[in-house]
Amino acid sequence: MLSRMTSSKLICTSLFLAVVAAASPMLLKLNDLSHSVWGNVLPSFWTRIRNFNTGLVITSSFLFAYLIRKVWKVLFYPLEMQRKLHDIGYFSDEKRPLKDVANEYRKRKKRGEVPPVYPNGWFHVLASHELVVGEVRYVSILGEDLVVFRGTDGKSYIMNAYCPHLGANLGIGGQVVGDCLRCPFHGWKFRGSDGKCTEIPYCENVPNFAQTKAWHCLETNHTIYIWYHAEGSEPTWYPDEIEEIQNGTWTYRGYTQHAINAHIEEIPENGADLNHLDHLHSSPILSGVDLRHIFSHWWQFARHNWSAEWKPLEDAKHVGCLQLVTTISVFGYKIPYLYFQVTARQTGPGLVFMKWSSSLGDGIFLHSVTPKEPLLQSMRHTIYASKSVPTVVVKCLLYAEAIQVERDIMIWNHKTYVPKPLLVKEDQLIKKHRRWYSQFYSENSPRLSIKKETLDW
Ligand code: FES
Ligand SMILES: [Fe+2]
Repeated sequence: MLSRMTSSKLICTSLFLAVVAAASPMLLKLNDLSHSVWGNVLPSFWTRIRNFNTGLVITSSFLFAYLIRKVWKVLFYPLEMQRKLHDIGYFSDEKRPLKDVANEYRKRKKRGEVPPVYPNGWFHVLASHELVVGEVRYVSILGEDLVVFRGTDGKSYIMNAYCPHLGANLGIGGQVVGDCLRCPFHGWKFRGSDGKCTEIPYCENVPNFAQTKAWHCLETNHTIYIWYHAEGSEPTWYPDEIEEIQNGTWTYRGYTQHAINAHIEEIPENGADLNHLDHLHSSPILSGVDLRHIFSHWWQFARHNWSAEWKPLEDAKHVGCLQLVTTISVFGYKIPYLYFQVTARQTGPGLVFMKWSSSLGDGIFLHSVTPKEPLLQSMRHTIYASKSVPTVVVKCLLYAEAIQVERDIMIWNHKTYVPKPLLVKEDQLIKKHRRWYSQFYSENSPRLSIKKETLDW
């Protein structure tokens, strides 16, 4: 899908540049027109240009078109930013590749006695636009190998990736046929809704036992979600459906994606750890991400002020609610009308619906964390905003959010999990959050296996 998008963009760009190239020699003949429009200014400009050779004019036209396209993209295209694990918080004085440094830290990091690694709940798998009709994707999350495909009926389906016949990976070369997926090895056909094998090309009858596992899959908010439960239980709750996204009041403006080396619970726990806000997140956005520099006295002239509250909901026990307001002060003077207010519904172990409002307009961040490995998380923030807010402004918001989150990531990538933290009275919400989060673990929730970890690395 992405490659299709890239190629369509390439075609548009090429067409655009071809038109500019074709038109550029005409620029040399435009001075008649410019006489009538601009008097003497443009004619003298074109006369100068005519003194250059045609090749130079064509090259400049290409450059000009390229710059216009860049500016256009900055102003009107969504921001789509993906950061790899070694991009945030790893550094080397000896100029070693950061990938090696990150891997070394991962091996060395003291993991502590962590809770089970894959909690029960709904998790983000893909954005809807990442799976077009007839497309098949292999996805490895929550310790499972999965195939995600979109049938010709437009619905998305998730099944086990490995074919129960002889183990081929259905996500690599599987073909969509209606609402089924055909295995690339011997052609068995599996139905996406229940995993039943509906056809074996060389058998007259399909035996009843021919079946694979189909997972609960839900598509809403332009997102494909999966239900994971270690006991195989049916869903007892569902992700919020955001009406403003469904009816188009809020429109898509981009996403950021990060890899994080930590236990999943560390990330939502941040929402109840209100006391870190005024320390880690108070330096102005301009000070950046690097924890070695953001506390410098150079940045003390400005600060973000935070006030926040977190509590579990009584009528929906899988939801915790965070209310947060941030303002900016410069030299102690609070900038009027510049505020950002968030009501975040932490829904289950890996989804947060963060509705925001500001003096510029309102919208939502869809925040998700999905475990890729026991201690490797994929975190995504997708932003939607009301049409009145210009895309370039929404992109700045998304980028500012990414900077704040990357400060947390630098902490998470290096911290250990403390099962019995040393908490003072003012930290009690952290304890409360841990109690609340424990509802997402059950008897058979997978635990970290040291042996497997050692083999993996
Ligand atoms: S391995 Fe899938 S049909 Fe044989
Ligand atoms: Fe934070």
